[in-house]
Amino acid sequence: MTNLMKSAFLMTLILGVCTTNAFADGPISLVDTQSGAPLAIAPDQFDTPQAKEFLATGKNPYVGDDAAIKRGNKIFQLYSCTQCHGADAQGQVGPSLHGPDFHYAKDATNKGMFETIWHGTNGGMGAKGKGLMDPSDPDNGLSPDDVLKVIAWVRSKGTTTGN
Ligand code: HEC
Repeated sequence: MTNLMKSAFLMTLILGVCTTNAFADGPISLVDTQSGAPLAIAPDQFDTPQAKEFLATGKNPYVGDDAAIKRGNKIFQLYSCTQCHGADAQGQVGPSLHGPDFHYAKDATNKGMFETIWHGTNGGMGAKGKGLMDPSDPDNGLSPDDVLKVIAWVRSKGTTTGN
């Protein structure tokens, strides 16, 4: 091979690698709201097609889905979110979740709101992710799919889709 051919070959390889990476889907990098540290959630906890799509793209496919919104409202009540945020998420002890302005700006995105609900904040919002509510019981808490449904309900009350 001539040198010219060699560099042409190398350039093609490098370009190929770059474009493949640029367009590859996820997984997204989830971080906690407290410090921005990586959130370690076992990939097999993303166990529905919708949760898998979220992990790959950061989009919440349940936003605008009536059945998921209804279920999300139930979970919001079951996990006492209503106690602090009010029955319509309008705000009580905790802030309103309607937006478009959020205490944590990233909560305007579904990835950001997922991270806040999963791992809590330093300002009075406890963690709700699976096993985080009660570290001695890895089954106590919300699955990623549950959190996405809660977010879909919250978005139905607010002014932003987060997607
Ligand atoms: C014990 C009271 C309490 C409960 C229960 C609670 N929260 Fe919160 N939540 C708060 C407080 C207080 C804040 C403000 C935290 C801060 O400023 O760091 C907050 C913040 C949030 C935020 C961030 C809002 C923003 O403006 O960025 C979201 C989202 C949220 N809560 C969702 C939920 C969901 C969903 C549930 C139920 C699964 C829940 N919370 C349960 C007290 C609560």
